[in-house]
Amino acid sequence: MPEPPQIPADIDLQRVPRHVACVMDGNGRWASQRNLPRTEGHAAGEVALLDTVNGALDIGVRWLTMFAFSTENWRRPADEVRYLMGFNESLLVRRRDELHEKGVRIRFAGRRDWRVPKRVLRRMDESAELTARNRRMTLTMAFNYGGRAEIVDAVRRLVRDGVPAERVDERALAARLYHTDMPDPDLVVRTSGEFRISNFLLWELAYSELVFTEVLWPDFRRRDLFDAVAEYQRRERRYGGVRG
Ligand code: IPE
Ligand code: IPE
Ligand code: MG
Repeated sequence: MPEPPQIPADIDLQRVPRHVACVMDGNGRWASQRNLPRTEGHAAGEVALLDTVNGALDIGVRWLTMFAFSTENWRRPADEVRYLMGFNESLLVRRRDELHEKGVRIRFAGRRDWRVPKRVLRRMDESAELTARNRRMTLTMAFNYGGRAEIVDAVRRLVRDGVPAERVDERALAARLYHTDMPDPDLVVRTSGEFRISNFLLWELAYSELVFTEVLWPDFRRRDLFDAVAEYQRRERRYGGVRG
């Protein structure tokens, strides 16, 4: 039996952000607080990820983007990087069927460079293929993702496409980002009390509402997502204009 949706009373379902993006941060600190190796914090983050996806489905979020591994995370100790590669691969294998059944389209954003093991790329492709026709929600895993790298890659495409300088505008560049059908995030949530973007979606979050929470990622649950959405609904978005 699927769980009945838990719709929180403090959220206006008519004004749910279409696209929510999360920086899942604080796994290492969560583990250190428990005298566990950092990798245990990453493992504990899986429950948080699934609960967040389910909560987002319950309130009707159509696009959810999760920062799983940045282009800078290669700087971490080799053991941790190796763990994260294997963990992300096995998470896909373990979770893709249930996500597929729920109507989630799984996608990836990031560089497919030589550092990402072939088997991980294979799992990513399989999961994307399996779920490609789902439309209830698009879950984009930002993996080996960097906002600057994405912009650089878009500029490379502009050059390869032979676009003359006077034809380069925001639309031309945006049309060469990783997923051109993805709307810009309305809401970006970062956990663990850090007030920074850390190279996430630099182009796309130009007008996103930012919500920061002290909660460490492994402790994050759908209620924390709902709190962030409630906070989002209290904001006034002006896009450089004046009060409407
Ligand atoms: C986020 O948690 C997971 C990744 C960046 C892969 P961290 O591993 O950054 O945890 P902290 O920030 O060190 O606590
Ligand atoms: C951002 O977290 C990257 C991911 C959540 C995948 P980091 O932990 O890598 O960011 P910094 O080092 O605190 O800026
Ligand atoms: Mg961190």
